Amino acid sequence: MTATAPMPSQAAIAVNDMLDNCACIERDQHVLILAANDGLYGGTNIVDETAVAWIQAGVQARGAHATVMWVDMPVRPTVIWPDFATTETVWKIPPIVQGAMKSADLLISHVFDLSSEEHLKELPAMLKELKLPMVRNMASTAPLLCTAWARTPHDVIAEIRYRTAELVKPGERFVLSHPNGTHVEGTVGAPGRGGDQYAYWRKHGYYRPFPDGIYPAVEPVDAEGVYIFDRMMPIWARKIGVPPKFSAPVRMTIEKSLIRKLDGGPEAQVLSEFLAELAKVLGEEDAYAVRAPHGGIHPSALISPAQCPDEDYREFIASFHPSSLHLHMGRGGRNKAFPYNLHTAVELRGATLTIGNRVVHDNGRLGVEDHPKVLEVLARYPDRPGLDGERWHTGMVT
Ligand SMILES: [Fe+2]
Repeated sequence: MTATAPMPSQAAIAVNDMLDNCACIERDQHVLILAANDGLYGGTNIVDETAVAWIQAGVQARGAHATVMWVDMPVRPTVIWPDFATTETVWKIPPIVQGAMKSADLLISHVFDLSSEEHLKELPAMLKELKLPMVRNMASTAPLLCTAWARTPHDVIAEIRYRTAELVKPGERFVLSHPNGTHVEGTVGAPGRGGDQYAYWRKHGYYRPFPDGIYPAVEPVDAEGVYIFDRMMPIWARKIGVPPKFSAPVRMTIEKSLIRKLDGGPEAQVLSEFLAELAKVLGEEDAYAVRAPHGGIHPSALISPAQCPDEDYREFIASFHPSSLHLHMGRGGRNKAFPYNLHTAVELRGATLTIGNRVVHDNGRLGVEDHPKVLEVLARYPDRPGLDGERWHTGMVT
């Protein structure tokens, strides 16, 4: 570890963008920079000391107080079933972290286990209670901070995200299709976060991912059809006990927004057993519910092994690329004793999603690429990666 590790311009661009436009650091703020030490040694909370030191220096340069905390996350089995924990028995945010969060004005987290979308409900509840904004820095190592993914202007992705969410209108029909035989249709329901508008700006919320890369999930009503997939986002794949890339495709039959059948190979079998166990805790209506679709909006979210040796993490980042769409299986929010944010994301690459008469994604092309507001923000950053992600890639991506 060295705070004097030479910082390439690429990383400086990313760190400055994150601190100014995502974290929105203000002078005299107390900023907690959190990292988990397992991530230095092959654990899931991937991080390096150089990235943390660069970010700490950047916070201090803006006249704010930066406190770095290296934390041990609770050691526990990866697979979370068949004996699901309850909010009483599940692992907790370490008390010393909770204490530090209480005195912070802003949290910059590199702890993958503490994401508000994929893990414990405890975290978003606490951020809300404390009114503590959290920047989730996913570019958590020096090599990742140097990527075109991290250097794409935060404002560009925020604009793409907002304008894509504007295409999602309650009451309209959506159609999700793929040349592999997938065809799911349904009606767009009301947004999960309330109100009647899917579009909102992250900068007003407690959850601020950097880089951002996904728009709000469509709430489907009366979805019907067949969804054929052979991969699952790694976080919940590991929690369930299936590999992120399946040995055989799974054919999911959907009726009235409920999963009726999963046919396929060994992964279909495990997923079927998982949902059956989940139904014992959540009830059938929630366990078999299909949620989303939504998908990636970041044109440079493809990472090479040289930039990140961890294949699961590269796959996770690739889920933010516009070629990626996913559905969620199951709904965990209504059961107060269920401790997890269910994000069982079954993924398709190269699908097409239309809502009403508007194309949201078409095999990697985004429907808002020509939106005047998106073009306006892009024009402010002529020297940075934008929609032309493929021009900025270095090395082979998998
Ligand atoms: Fe999702």
